[in-house]
Amino acid sequence: MNKTISLTRYLVEKQRVGGHIPPELRLLIEVVARACKRISISINKGALGGVLGSADTENVQGEVQKKLDIIANEVLIEANEWGGHLAAMASEEMDGIYAVPNRFPQGEYLLMFDPLDGSSNIDVNVSIGTIFSVLRKQNDDPETVEPVCEQDFLQPGKQQVAAGYCVYGPQTTLVLTVGDGVAMFTLDREQGSWVLTQDQVRIPEDTREFAINMSNMRHWDAPVRRYIDECLQGKDGPRGKDFNMRWIASMVADVHRILTRGGIFMYPWDKREPHKPGKLRLMYEANPMGWLVEQAGGAATNGRQRILDLHPTQLHERVSVILGSRNEVERVTAYHREAAADGTSAA
Ligand code: AHG
Ligand code: MN
Ligand code: MN
Repeated sequence: MNKTISLTRYLVEKQRVGGHIPPELRLLIEVVARACKRISISINKGALGGVLGSADTENVQGEVQKKLDIIANEVLIEANEWGGHLAAMASEEMDGIYAVPNRFPQGEYLLMFDPLDGSSNIDVNVSIGTIFSVLRKQNDDPETVEPVCEQDFLQPGKQQVAAGYCVYGPQTTLVLTVGDGVAMFTLDREQGSWVLTQDQVRIPEDTREFAINMSNMRHWDAPVRRYIDECLQGKDGPRGKDFNMRWIASMVADVHRILTRGGIFMYPWDKREPHKPGKLRLMYEANPMGWLVEQAGGAATNGRQRILDLHPTQLHERVSVILGSRNEVERVTAYHREAAADGTSAA
């Protein structure tokens, strides 16, 4: 009989062998995974569940919220607030942090999430996802600590203790790292359980596939334009090979493709909103995805620095993102460095 490994068993073994995670973190990850199952069920109902369409409200970034943005946010909060593992949560869809209410025990972890990534794809039945990241609250001695505050969240991505995403696509897949490689679990709907379907995921170092929203081309900075120009020249250009383009407009789905078969994903700074460092959010999108990609042998930078080294100054901070196959990310980053040196970068 084929042995199936459940998420629970995977996590218990990570706890037991090598002590990669403490029991509280294991339980926290299981609760997040359970919440993703609930979100998946809501998404699957679609029009039948009345979950499609706009909620006619705006989040802190001024983006119109979809009903599922709000539903997914509530599911994650309800699932996680009572377990005793968390001190607070922060979400792309909430202005400030959500401290665990006093009626529940306080834990030492901080959970961040993009409850529903790829909102523009909800109503058109294209893959969407949930992204999450876990940090440990520094100074968690209950005798001396101040109440949890936004400052506690402002840690560089390299301090994450768990990160992952769930992609709601043709299959529902949970992808996770606790700093010991990347594992993928597929939801078995009949059993209601997450089954390990790939362990130690590796991203090929080279690729012929790029993902970027080409409609922003005229707003790009010189190094991004140079890289894409060279890809588009294909066999006839300096790269000497043809490239393929994919853009799903759900970061989760684009990153999932890259973890599965390689590629480079870019949402770079551009001139549309020059005062903002980028569109994507450091804490809810770039850090967890950056860590997953690094754990699978890829790289993630903002064009100048490793994403995971950035010190956030605000909860909802945005960032320029270049991630995926190592050699391509290094090439784009080198183009940025050269442009900064010769003064051709506008960023
Ligand atoms: P969200 O739905 O959480 O706001 O994130 C959407 C993000 C990301 O998933 C995707 O890569 C990008 O926005 C798509 O942006 P464009 O519509 O500008 O292509
Ligand atoms: Mn998102
Ligand atoms: Mn979102």
